[in-house]
Amino acid sequence: MRKTTVTPADLARQIGRIPAQPGAREVSSDMETQATGVMSGVIEGAGPVTRPGERPTVRLRDEDGAAQEPPRYAPEWLRLREPADARARAIDLLDPLRIRLANLPGRTGGLVVHDLGCGTGSMGRWLAPRLDGPQHWILHDRDPYLLHFAAVGSPRVAADGSRVTVETRRGDVARLTPDALVGASLVTASALLDVLTREEIDTLAAACAGAGCPALLTLSVAGRVELSAEDPMDEEIAAAFDDHQRRGGLLGPDSVTAACEAFADHGASVKVHPSAWRLGPDEAALTAQWLRGWVGAAVEERPDLAARAETYLAARLAACAAGELHVTVHHSDLLALPRPTGGV
Ligand SMILES: C[S@@+](CC[C@H](N)C(=O)[O-])C[C@H]1O[C@@H](n2cnc3c(N)ncnc32)[C@H](O)[C@@H]1O
Repeated sequence: MRKTTVTPADLARQIGRIPAQPGAREVSSDMETQATGVMSGVIEGAGPVTRPGERPTVRLRDEDGAAQEPPRYAPEWLRLREPADARARAIDLLDPLRIRLANLPGRTGGLVVHDLGCGTGSMGRWLAPRLDGPQHWILHDRDPYLLHFAAVGSPRVAADGSRVTVETRRGDVARLTPDALVGASLVTASALLDVLTREEIDTLAAACAGAGCPALLTLSVAGRVELSAEDPMDEEIAAAFDDHQRRGGLLGPDSVTAACEAFADHGASVKVHPSAWRLGPDEAALTAQWLRGWVGAAVEERPDLAARAETYLAARLAACAAGELHVTVHHSDLLALPRPTGGV
């Protein structure tokens, strides 16, 4: 079985010849040949991913038995979603966050922000210019390829003109220890919680509590999608997609509830705000990619849907191309503020 590793230059050429199910950037080429009709044409690494070994498109082990790398996200997909993410983010959470940051016990210098699962760094590009004061961002991801993009495209200037610096750290954020967060002012994440397990979210909450820092955890899928006009198949696809997201103990649409519980168990006060994508004709490229990923994951979960799903997807894509499709993909943003310490 041959493995295809995708370079940025390849990505543009790949639309139209890759697997129905989006997810990993490393796919077995013999699985590529199974992509058919409208179910092909998705950016590899777009949409949901699951644990290594749980996707038939991801090779589990090399011939020598070495463990395979986790699925990887395509920078193209992250770039495509960045403007919609920026519009969706819950700005109502910023004031309570700013107040807490201004009153952090022992804060003398600038902010130190750890962005977990940073991808190409969209969270920093959005948040850094909305916070005052010098900032040092520590960008964590397990994918060095994405960390490279994040470093190159990092924010430089804070809201008040102060300097913003960044460093990157490659590693598994699901195993974060309080030690790793020593000196942190803030932990952020975007589109990460739903690909973690309950245990991993507990670990994250414990690490934040240990460091006494707030956490802004944004754009976790809420498991609700609305498409206009409604179609009888919408619910079936949505349910299969949600089941797909929960594979292997991942939380998918249950992640925000789990995170609320985990942070509350550690004494934090938690605020949750909606942060839905509202996609119309101006976001047709994102909508089309999202649709392919959404339906592809549903079919991977329930292969019996394949024939009907292909017809459904073709109709949805046609409506999208005609500027007639509107989609709301519900997400949630969560702000966890630890119990104040140090007499504050
Ligand atoms: C959906 S992408 C979101 C990227 C970015 N935060 C954004 O909003 O564009 C999820 C990111 O989390 C990273 N990731 C997922 N699980 C991880 C883990 N256990 N450790 C480190 N990075 C992880 C992936 O490599 C990917 O970059």
